[in-house]
Amino acid sequence: MPVLFVNKERVDIAAGVAGDTPLLWILRDSLKLTGTKYGCGVAQCGACTVYLEGAPVRSCQVPLSSLKQGAEITTIEGLKSKEGQAIQAAWVKLDVPQCGYCQSGQVMSAAALLAKNRRPTDADIDQAMAGNLCRCATYVRIRAAIHEAARALA
Ligand code: FES
Ligand code: FES
Repeated sequence: MPVLFVNKERVDIAAGVAGDTPLLWILRDSLKLTGTKYGCGVAQCGACTVYLEGAPVRSCQVPLSSLKQGAEITTIEGLKSKEGQAIQAAWVKLDVPQCGYCQSGQVMSAAALLAKNRRPTDADIDQAMAGNLCRCATYVRIRAAIHEAARALA
């Protein structure tokens, strides 16, 4: 039986869950961690972004069978890193979301960027966030909030 650690809690995946089941389905349907969203299902929108072993992945594209025993997954509900906290505080301060649907994926990608690069330029931000689409076009506030979080972490 596969074992995962999701937001540091052990999860035993029931025998019989098909190996091609996307991680996104396990998170949302089985574990009720609905902060991670289903947008496109084809790795184009970033709404389903979570961390696998600390790195952002598109959970709609990660089949259960590809996960090693004890794989560590972090979702928006478990984003407790200082970068994640700074990003979330900046999101609130600058009132970034509109409908909100894309935003947990945006926050996960933004926190991953700051974990690697504490002083991202606009170009760094645009590159790092290019895979996270927002139908409400909140891109200007997203960029401002990443700079705000970077200042808070300095
Ligand atoms: S739902 Fe996974 S990238 Fe769009
Ligand atoms: S805030 Fe609506 S899709 Fe991004």
